[in-house]
Amino acid sequence: MCGIVSYSGRSNALEVILKGLQKLEYRGYDSVGISLISGSEIITNKHVGSVSEFSSQISENSLQNFKSSCGIGHTRWATHGKVDLTNTHPHFSNNKKIAVVHNGIIENYLELKTHLEKLGFSFYSETDTEVIPNLVQSFVDTGMNLIEAFKETLKMLKGSFAIAMVTSIEPKKIFIAKCKSPLVIGKNKGEFYVASDANALLEFCNNFLFMEDETYAILEYGKQPKLFNFRGNSVKVNFKKLKLTAKQVSNKNYDDYMLKEINEQPEVIKNIISEYLSDSGFKSEFLNLNKKDFKRIIILACGSSYNAGLLGKYWIEKFAQIPTNVEIASEFKLRNPVLKKSDLIIAISQSGETADTISAVEYAKSKKCKIVAICNTPESTLDRMSNQTIFLNAGHEVGVAATKTFLAQVAILFLIAINLAHNKFKKFKIEEYLSEFTKISDKIHETLSFTSQIESLSQKYAHFKNFFFLGRGLAYPLAIEGALKLKEISYIHAEGLPVGEMKHGSIALIDELFPSVVLAFKNFYFDKTLSNALEIKARNGKVILFTDEQISFDSKFIDDFLTLPQVKFDMEPFVFIVILQLFAYYVAKKLGRNVDKPRNLAKSVTVE
Ligand code: F6R
Repeated sequence: MCGIVSYSGRSNALEVILKGLQKLEYRGYDSVGISLISGSEIITNKHVGSVSEFSSQISENSLQNFKSSCGIGHTRWATHGKVDLTNTHPHFSNNKKIAVVHNGIIENYLELKTHLEKLGFSFYSETDTEVIPNLVQSFVDTGMNLIEAFKETLKMLKGSFAIAMVTSIEPKKIFIAKCKSPLVIGKNKGEFYVASDANALLEFCNNFLFMEDETYAILEYGKQPKLFNFRGNSVKVNFKKLKLTAKQVSNKNYDDYMLKEINEQPEVIKNIISEYLSDSGFKSEFLNLNKKDFKRIIILACGSSYNAGLLGKYWIEKFAQIPTNVEIASEFKLRNPVLKKSDLIIAISQSGETADTISAVEYAKSKKCKIVAICNTPESTLDRMSNQTIFLNAGHEVGVAATKTFLAQVAILFLIAINLAHNKFKKFKIEEYLSEFTKISDKIHETLSFTSQIESLSQKYAHFKNFFFLGRGLAYPLAIEGALKLKEISYIHAEGLPVGEMKHGSIALIDELFPSVVLAFKNFYFDKTLSNALEIKARNGKVILFTDEQISFDSKFIDDFLTLPQVKFDMEPFVFIVILQLFAYYVAKKLGRNVDKPRNLAKSVTVE
């Protein structure tokens, strides 16, 4: 993961790089570091913690007074080596003349380290990155110029990487390279900006070049950029103007972004309606598919996006009767899955940068499948590699846990399912579903009014160490998502299961210290789900029941329950998800967690 920024221009490099890093913090927030060049001096500052803490420290230290218009910066999500100052980027060559920041993983770094140690190099960090500046130095030491040395170094690296390098040997130049990890160059009036994504640079420029894999560039303020492939052949430099605008978001009126984003969900549905629906149904740009184009759908995604995909499978198979598989992207290509040109791939990714999803999509593209992306990020890697992208239009999501973007993914998948069903079956009553869909925003609003009840419920349960989340049918993917939300922001162990599976083994774990959140839809095997809940109660397990059935329960049978607003059959996930998000949120708050930036996580997962 990690975010990298670099700049060669005429302004204050420190300011540019700090602003860029601020925007890239979603890629990792373990530690942060900057190296600036002035004359033949490189000055570096590092901090374990957030970019904003780093910024406030800098105003008091030497970096602030160091005038520089060229440098590199990095925000880290630790892969190799613990979270400490030594492992924080930038990393240096032994002669201290070369500084490098890196996003990705150098898979053969141990081999390269041994090679360099034999040449007399020493290593000071546990990172894979430190081999890079030392390899460059090893080539320079043989008399090569820097460009040659950089090229020779790139040839030796295996894995995924985006690199930015500055040196005191050629102090005005930045050297950058990309292989599998994203890197974009921005340009404005002879100044060059580099970052892991274009959004980090929108404040400074709107002409961009998204680097292709296995290319490198040398950039210097006021000079023509030089771009090459790894074989050393020069590559056409083609900048394009983007219509993207800088996203300014704040969590005004809310304690955290996560709570704000949960509360934005009625608006998210309204945005999707105005973007993709008209009075007469779907706008033509929603899904450009010829139904003869494909025979099977394969959904590729990770994490919450995968859970959304499971809901999509249910709807697509039920309504449109098209066989649909949902695949965990990180596992997909490993088994050489059978793919045909007639398979349609739906790749779901909020960020559009998840390395596992991108790699699975690359595999599908190599089999000539058509790719439809569901994504929140225009000009992301996934967007650029897909035949069509259906954007979530959910607005920027700051909280690391997916909330409003999960709901938006679910909404888009629901619309895809009814759209496909309508195209396939004349008798499919699409009007009924569309008319219900337009009411969903109000239903979510109504569900949000349960906030104080869910807050006190969450506080009652926050001290438990384990939870089951259970449901059947559409409630099963919701159960997994509810468990994931609780795990990632509260650090409580939680497991989502189909409720019918409990009796096949997992019920052995039940005792008075292992509560279960049971999701029971009025219109879908309610009685069976309730019986399963009672089986848990019979074993002294605590049961919290979320249902849309209007009945009361004796506390002898169910410990706590909440009756949610009713919606049309098969549309229940739109309200149930909100209550699960709130439950996780308030449990985490009770435990004093940082819900927006939970430990060990990053918003965009750019390593496989
Ligand atoms: C959980 C969460 C993650 C992401 C996963 C995929 O709240 O946010 O599980 O869903 O990392 O990310 P995207 O959707 O960006 O591919």
